[in-house]
Amino acid sequence: MKILAIETSCDETAIALVEASNGLKNPRFKILKNLVASQIKTHQPFGGIVPNLAKREHLKNLPILLKKILNFKFPICNASHNDISEYTLNSVDIIAVTVGPGLEPCLWTGINFAKQLKIKSANLKTKLIGVNHLEGHLYSNLLSPKSDILYPAISLIISGGHTILLLMKNLICWEKIGETRDDAIGESFDKVARLLNLPYPGGPEIEKLAKFGNSEAIEFPRPMINQKNYDFSFSGLKTAVLYYLRGLNQEQNNWQSQSASIKADIAASFQQAAFEVLISKTIRSVKEFKAKSIIISGGVAVNKTLQKQFKKEIKNHSPLSCLHFPLSSFCGDNAAMIAAAGYINFLRKKNKQIIAQSNLNL
Ligand code: KG4
Ligand code: ZN
Repeated sequence: MKILAIETSCDETAIALVEASNGLKNPRFKILKNLVASQIKTHQPFGGIVPNLAKREHLKNLPILLKKILNFKFPICNASHNDISEYTLNSVDIIAVTVGPGLEPCLWTGINFAKQLKIKSANLKTKLIGVNHLEGHLYSNLLSPKSDILYPAISLIISGGHTILLLMKNLICWEKIGETRDDAIGESFDKVARLLNLPYPGGPEIEKLAKFGNSEAIEFPRPMINQKNYDFSFSGLKTAVLYYLRGLNQEQNNWQSQSASIKADIAASFQQAAFEVLISKTIRSVKEFKAKSIIISGGVAVNKTLQKQFKKEIKNHSPLSCLHFPLSSFCGDNAAMIAAAGYINFLRKKNKQIIAQSNLNL
């Protein structure tokens, strides 16, 4: 099946063309095209995402990306260059679009665009499928060439808006066992970055700076690490960084100019505290539920320090579990993962309402 997927839930405009096969038992995906137009530069001066600007950028970027996607030439296509776009659109079996969670004006932009495409297509069999963005992240690991996941599995979704731990009995059956009670982990990286005067988005900036710092220099709290549940809390950790900075400001007026390494130590120590909680709770859940795999996904999953630490801990504690991280290009928001979730929804005959649902959950 050919799937054209559209993702506009936040600040990335993304369209992908994906070939899916093999059914629910062992779904396989071939990425034909995967394009993302990042809006980072637009939002950077504001230190975060401005919803109306994001919507404006989606409106501008969607037709540009679509043109590039539809000019994809299938091997069997003999059509002239002008006909290729139409040929490609008509060959699509599923148009998958994110319906939530996300920013409502942004979601509607993608949904309306997808609806127009469905009307334009001469292929009356093309189906329009609504996709939960979180299921996109959840299935982003299936886009890797080697994606044989053993179940039961523990799935950790770590993004700018969510921190969720799931117990997956199989590909389509899961139970949420924990989530953040306040800030998402990515959000806490973004907020701490702002405290350190680093640009938005903060995650990559903190990771870069942390490489020059000592992760044991400052003992920040590890919120909820010893609690028996699988919930998380990151707002107190951010506040601890804020108080630490206030203390520094009181002690030395110009500490920022005196020592760049203090900032690096703060970044490294904060990152370490956040990751220790994530890793410790995930490994504990693996043991409790005897999981055979751990599946990590979401924008924060791209962090190489996290990947390294997870690998090390798995070796120490749970050698039987396989660890899966998505390929880097599928960690942050993208449309290929929406295609994967769209395919699975289609096979399950799960037809989400095609309306924006900004608070949609798993
Ligand atoms: O999944 P995503 O692209 O969007 C949401 O669905 O939220 O995740 C974006 C989040 C941002 O908070 C960003 O700061 C964080 O992922 N992020 C990182 C890194 N790269 C992006 N966090 C830690 N380390 C990174 N290298
Ligand atoms: Zn996301």
